[in-house]
Amino acid sequence: MSESTRKTGTSLLRWACVPHALVLYLSILSVLFNSCDTVDRSKFRTCDQSGFCKRQRAVKEGYSKYKVDLSNGQVSSDKVTFSVVNPDGGHKYILQIIAYDGVFRVKFNEESPLHPRYEVEHALLPDLKTTSMQVSKGSDSWTLTIGENAVAQVFGDPLRVDLFSQGKKVAVFNGRSTLKFEHLRQKPDVNEEPKEADDSENDVVESSMWEESFGGNTDSKPRGPESIAADIDFPLTQSLYGLPEHADTFMLKDTTNSDPVRLYNLDVFEYELDNVMALYGAIPYVIAHSPEATVGVLWLNAAETWVDVGVSKGGLVDSIVNLVGGSEENKEGRTRWMSESGIIDTFFFMGPKPADVIRQYGKLTGTTPLPQMWAIGSHQCRWNYNDEDDLLSVDANFDKYDIPYDSIWLDIEYTDGKKYFTWDHHKFPHPVEMINNISSKGRKLVTILDPHIKRESGYFLHEDATNQDLYVKDKNGKIYEGWCWPGSSSYLDFFDPKVRQYWASLFALDKFPSTLDTYIWNDMNEPSVFNGPEVTMPKDMMHYGNWEHRDVHNLYGLMHIMSTFEGLLQRSENRLRPFILTRSHYVGAQRYAAVWTGDNKADWGHLKISIPMCLSLSISGMSHCGADIGGFFHNPDAELMLRWYQTAAFQPFMRNHAHIETKRREPWLFGDQITSMIRSVVRKRYALLPYWYTLFYENEKTGMPPMRPLWLQYPDDVNTFPIQDQYLIGKCF
Ligand code: NOJ
Repeated sequence: MSESTRKTGTSLLRWACVPHALVLYLSILSVLFNSCDTVDRSKFRTCDQSGFCKRQRAVKEGYSKYKVDLSNGQVSSDKVTFSVVNPDGGHKYILQIIAYDGVFRVKFNEESPLHPRYEVEHALLPDLKTTSMQVSKGSDSWTLTIGENAVAQVFGDPLRVDLFSQGKKVAVFNGRSTLKFEHLRQKPDVNEEPKEADDSENDVVESSMWEESFGGNTDSKPRGPESIAADIDFPLTQSLYGLPEHADTFMLKDTTNSDPVRLYNLDVFEYELDNVMALYGAIPYVIAHSPEATVGVLWLNAAETWVDVGVSKGGLVDSIVNLVGGSEENKEGRTRWMSESGIIDTFFFMGPKPADVIRQYGKLTGTTPLPQMWAIGSHQCRWNYNDEDDLLSVDANFDKYDIPYDSIWLDIEYTDGKKYFTWDHHKFPHPVEMINNISSKGRKLVTILDPHIKRESGYFLHEDATNQDLYVKDKNGKIYEGWCWPGSSSYLDFFDPKVRQYWASLFALDKFPSTLDTYIWNDMNEPSVFNGPEVTMPKDMMHYGNWEHRDVHNLYGLMHIMSTFEGLLQRSENRLRPFILTRSHYVGAQRYAAVWTGDNKADWGHLKISIPMCLSLSISGMSHCGADIGGFFHNPDAELMLRWYQTAAFQPFMRNHAHIETKRREPWLFGDQITSMIRSVVRKRYALLPYWYTLFYENEKTGMPPMRPLWLQYPDDVNTFPIQDQYLIGKCF
């Protein structure tokens, strides 16, 4: 029993009252240790090493004086538009407040930017329905009301928006006046001495504004400084959750004395635990929860983003003590969001209860379509099953050892020299027969397909991509070349509808030798570029629509899985549900794919962190989440393997996977006793499959994730707020 559980008498009582409750507290994990640090930090920027983050973090409270012209707001039934001016320099902006069912959207952009600024596409559901709001005009502020209980009060001087739910102030936009919007500008003459940029907003010209180097790469920054930032505070609570993906606590920690939380999709080798370095996915979404009210905030921006979190002077420990002790001190939770480019586009999901926030977020960003029953069963993967015989014998052993499972996976070595949509004809000479053999037992095959394309002449995909202009380009219009598994590679520009259509067409069974029982794993889609800055694509590469990679980076994986999803649908003439596993993710990825937590390690700390990581993803829409059983790197011993199975059997996505250099770890390889215990827990998983399936149905309909933090179900019980080693599957298991 964990320390927190011991103190939580009410929680224990509740378990006792629910006859079939399966209490998922993994007390064993609390006595176990974390892994040692092995990530190469020199490859990844700190905030101080990122020009815009450093500039924005230096902004002091009270800095901004943006003034809203309340005398001239334009009102339509679902939207109010104001002009805003910054008296320091006179630059003009537009503020818009738009109403959706239970949701306020606050948009802020330049009135006439020098170039268009990127507004995120594809993350939200298309054709969203707005709703009407009541508008009451005052001289100091305007009051906007959706329905009965959601109110936004817009103050003019300085700009501030207070958000009220059922009469309680739940969030404040720019309450600390740290909004800073770097408007686009002409590059100053290189011969001029550094001076104030154009007198506006007191920007001093810094060298990092027009060119920035890191780790041997130079970012040419043709558009100069264009970052944006704003504070969003939560007067009622310091219990903040979200901002996946990080290998860190479920409840967000104070960042005053550390780097801000970083959201920038990256392939981090041997990631560390308990820190806020960026990982494979980025969901700029926070839920602020208190017994009085719950509110969600989405910062819809796809550029590199850092978020400062202020949860108490003393950090997480103090905030928990205050919470449990009912102290009123330091009640306000603070956040400040900083993005490198784009616009400020924030959504306030007004609740009032956590389930309402979840539903409101799902209505805007979509939910996970009900996965097939097999997709929520047990999956068996390895980098790599060597050939057809190997794969078929692993499959046969599941029968021999009588352990249920539903799909076997092939990693990159099945291809002919890492050329996706091809097979290695020596190792896998009869793919269709092999798949039919598997599927005759009701099982599926999942094959990997990454977004980098081998630059080999004669490879049909590379030829097509070159001839049909399907690749990402550099700033001079030349096809971008980077290094990934196949060696020299180029990257499909999935932002181009023509590329998405082309990629989707490749899944046709006459193009990719496979069957309708073959499903897809999209990996390396941050995108991972081994020789790129921070192992990804340089920010000054160009995408369809004349957008820099800088503007759209965090969306790349979403565009990849969207195309795959479309391909799987087309392949079956819209008859069969696709299944995709993705590594990179952004807002809305839940509509297309399941997710796993990437390259974890065979140690107890990584097993333990799989729970807060999946809780954080679950409340942020990515409900079909799991971690590599056994840990991807290194070799688990028998006990760790068993405990990992026992944990994963109760997580939404359950897959055994391992690095190519590890020992084999199929479940029968750890001795008879362990095999039998693994068999038993996998059978429990299967016994509960109808329950999981029902929960995923509920998830599709309402957004409510199958894997739930306790406070989602018991929003008034403050003891549950910090808990991250127990959770619920559905309402009561
Ligand atoms: C990286 C993925 O995270 C891992 O799961 C996979 O095995 C390797 N790429 C090889 O494809």
